[in-house]
Amino acid sequence: MYVCLCHGVTERHIRNAAAEGVPSFEALQEKTGLSSCCGACRDHAEATWQQALVSEGAQQMPRMATSAVRQWSPWS
Ligand code: FES
Repeated sequence: MYVCLCHGVTERHIRNAAAEGVPSFEALQEKTGLSSCCGACRDHAEATWQQALVSEGAQQMPRMATSAVRQWSPWS
């Protein structure tokens, strides 16, 4: 679904940016132009960005936990 009609940015673009490690909403704006024209999409764009970060963080947690367990060893 389109979030920003002015720049053709979709929810998928925003989720992919979060997964790729785009560090902030401002960086996302620089990358995509999101919410930098009329601004009508700003609230929905920020909400979608926050949801994408939460979703990405939830997906990162099991990987981080597994990595931490693998790194820890009582014999090292
Ligand atoms: S709809 Fe996003 S800047 Fe206009």
